Amino acid sequence: MIVAGAGSQALAAELATVTDHELADVTYDEFPDGEQIVGVDPADGSPETAVVIAATTSAAAHIEVLQLQDAAREAGADRVCTVLPYMGYARQDDPMAPSADCESDTTAFPLSARAVARALSPGTDRIITVTPHEERVCEFFTVPAIAVDAASRLAEPLSGNLSEPLFLAPDEGAVDLAESVRDAYGRGETDYFRKTRQSGSHVDIEPSDATVEGRDVVVTDDIVATGTTTGTAVTVLRNRSAARVAVACVHPLLVGNARLTLARAGVDRIIGTDTVERSVSAVSVAPSIADAL
Ligand code: R5P
Repeated sequence: MIVAGAGSQALAAELATVTDHELADVTYDEFPDGEQIVGVDPADGSPETAVVIAATTSAAAHIEVLQLQDAAREAGADRVCTVLPYMGYARQDDPMAPSADCESDTTAFPLSARAVARALSPGTDRIITVTPHEERVCEFFTVPAIAVDAASRLAEPLSGNLSEPLFLAPDEGAVDLAESVRDAYGRGETDYFRKTRQSGSHVDIEPSDATVEGRDVVVTDDIVATGTTTGTAVTVLRNRSAARVAVACVHPLLVGNARLTLARAGVDRIIGTDTVERSVSAVSVAPSIADAL
């Protein structure tokens, strides 16, 4: 049976369709003191295997996935596979201070990705995550864990008539992703800008030498959170007279005023997957997850 987290209901339904597995009835509630509670009804007898699928985009979602794992066992599942389409805290894959002001010789910071992975491991037999910021987060789990790469799916919603398309990574770390999207699209060039992050809401971007004037550009990144990175890249492209500019990301977190940031920068279209369910989630990663189950 497929067991959905509250934030991954559409993806869970799609996965149930693709795999022909039963979609469990799940309820999400809260006690008066604010503690969360879930209910899992397999509806169709006692399932042998449960696939818990939940994007951990918040602290509440982390508690919820622990509860879903436990409720799945209570419902009779012998095996639990936990799918984290978006793994929260994965970007903290090294101990890091929230800002330079907080750094001192005596302050210790957690390796948060490892802490979260360790907490999620005892309730499951295996983990599947989708396009994590760094694949090495899989090593932090104490059960077998794999990363599925869904970047190529971002080519599916793109118009077939892009003019001299350029698939542009806003930093060197996203070049592989840009290449995956370009390969799946079937034609075009790839390039990358050089990014220096100054703070959570400010990055400096040094453009490359690639000609963008009159070309359709797809800015590709793994995550769009505040929109600072991709918004800055789009501004540079607009100043250099690019034609249509799209932003394509696997995880469209789009927190705070990210959409405004991107709109003001002059983006024509935002494309994301359903690892984080948003209105821009134009493509599903369910087939990629199904292949890995
Ligand atoms: C960082 O290296 C990631 O690949 C993304 O570029 C980053 O997480 C995007 O965050 P934001 O939208 O807040 O700039």
